[in-house]
Amino acid sequence: MNILLLGSGGREHALAWKIAASPLVTKLWCAPGNAGIAREAECVALDITDHAAVIDFCRAGKVDFVVVGPDAPIAAGIVDDLNAAGFKAFGPTKAAGQLESSKSFTKALCRANNIPTATYEHFTDADKAKAWIRARGAPIVVKADGLAAGKGVVVAMTEQEALDAVDMMFGGGFGEAGAEVVVEEFMAGEEASFFALCDGEHALPLATAQDHKRAFDGDRGPNTGGMGAYSPAPVLTDAICTQVMEQMIIPTLRALAAMGSPYKGVLYAGVMVTKDGPKLVEYNARFGDPECQVLMLRMMSDIVPALIACADGQLKNFSLRWFDDVALTVIMATKGYPGDYGKGFVIEGLDEAAKVEGVEIFHAGTRADDGKILSNGGRVLNVCASGKTVTEAQQRAYAAVDRIKWPEGFCRRDIGWQAVAREKARS
Ligand code: AMP
Ligand code: GLY
Repeated sequence: MNILLLGSGGREHALAWKIAASPLVTKLWCAPGNAGIAREAECVALDITDHAAVIDFCRAGKVDFVVVGPDAPIAAGIVDDLNAAGFKAFGPTKAAGQLESSKSFTKALCRANNIPTATYEHFTDADKAKAWIRARGAPIVVKADGLAAGKGVVVAMTEQEALDAVDMMFGGGFGEAGAEVVVEEFMAGEEASFFALCDGEHALPLATAQDHKRAFDGDRGPNTGGMGAYSPAPVLTDAICTQVMEQMIIPTLRALAAMGSPYKGVLYAGVMVTKDGPKLVEYNARFGDPECQVLMLRMMSDIVPALIACADGQLKNFSLRWFDDVALTVIMATKGYPGDYGKGFVIEGLDEAAKVEGVEIFHAGTRADDGKILSNGGRVLNVCASGKTVTEAQQRAYAAVDRIKWPEGFCRRDIGWQAVAREKARS
């Protein structure tokens, strides 16, 4: 079959790598793709915000199935438009995708269905938000309601920080995304990522992962899209995964189906494991980036039938097999990220790095020019490794990182620290 993958990040490189390995695939395109994806798929310079152009491409290429990687096209209704044009796609509709694109939608759904999450209030008025903050005190969390590239959240440790965040958001600090604000209780605990494929009615849990959102070692510095990840996440024990399925995923699917917007695609729950059990931090309507990269390395089964089963409502009785080895990924980003950074720096040593045992390198912001690989974004490379333990995978990933010559890049040196500490404590 002919498949079109939409996106250009490390997540999409990992998806392209996994989809390309399927014997079901005749032709794989990726729009717009990147220099690494070009090894797995034919990259096409399509503007994916132009849905009519995407549909024209599908017609011309006789595309059988479209896989949507990032959140922006989901929020823009690409799946609705593809379906209306007669094309099958992996990913939720715009209405179901509100689980990610509208925090207030999700919080209201949680409240109505007793899904464990932080208590919250939704505000369109700065003074009322501030009064609520003053009444509850810090720590407290202030969130812009819309999509803000993962940066629309202020975890305020002091009341003043929270009040300033309200002013910043209503003052347009996040543009449209800050016109409405959610203020919620601070949840203390360890956070991890839970993924389930969904077909509108049934859910199939995938492997778990944990990512590292802060820019610098020791979980310090500004929040980013994610600086590294590993799978599985030991904090999500089998018992907790069962609770997440029963208390979050299943009631969410039921609620969306009852609204007439069944959720199809991958549902990504950010979960805080608190002393009172797992609580939902947020939902995303897509795979995590970089969590997807480690999930794809661990998935033994062909992914393509699973993605199609989501779109077809055929997940019941479906199962997937996984490798026991753990996987870990280190993100190499351009110095300055998540703030301003330059582009066009030459990256060398990738082939040598990829020779380290168990290592697979996925590209995020890269482009090829005259046989050279150039940086072309904030997060640039995902240096991934498998291993028997997180400690082993971490050593392999960093051995590969050390072979990459890119003075303008940086990475965290402590990806996987929680699991490595657990492994040390056990040995
Ligand atoms: P979000 O975009 O909602 O995932 O928030 C970004 C990050 O802020 C999360 O991954 C958490 O680390 C943190 N966070 C969000 N909400 C809370 C909360 N209620 N309590 C503690 N930390 C939170
Ligand atoms: N790794 C966090 C995200 O994809 O949102």
